[in-house]
Amino acid sequence: MAVERTLSIIKPDAVAKNVIGKIYTRFEDAGLKIVASRLAQLSQAEAEGFYAVHKERPFFADLVKFMISGPVVIQVLEGENAVLAHRDLMGATDPKKAAPGTIRADFAESIDANAVHGSDSVENAAIEIAYFFPASQVHSR
Ligand code: PPS
Repeated sequence: MAVERTLSIIKPDAVAKNVIGKIYTRFEDAGLKIVASRLAQLSQAEAEGFYAVHKERPFFADLVKFMISGPVVIQVLEGENAVLAHRDLMGATDPKKAAPGTIRADFAESIDANAVHGSDSVENAAIEIAYFFPASQVHSR
């Protein structure tokens, strides 16, 4: 099994619910290590840049508006098969379809406010990590 890194964001709805610690515990209990972390208020330009791949989608403007509606917590997770392991912890994009016990099933209200983001591939993880963290701020341990 490969040790990977993935980019994870706790979105404004989950930060507002005060469940940062509960979500971090799930990462740690699954064997994922937090190797970079920061609380951030994204600017419109930062959110638009991060989600640029979705800019033609009908929900793009609402997604950006939601992501700048309050602070987020951005982290890099490292561990065996981290990309898939993290996506398994998150559950399906639509919380109504997310498996019981996943982060989205337990903490998210809707597809528009779905608590967490996670990279969908090792390649995209590298791009997304570099978007938010210079290499000097990521610390393997
Ligand atoms: S896709 O088709 O696989 O690219 O879509 P997906 O990765 O599931 O979702 C893209 C991101 O947009 C957010 N979002 C929505 N998706 C679908 N429908 C609606 N209405 C919608 N609103 C917001 C969704 O949560 C994904 O965000 P991230 O941060 O990547 O999880």
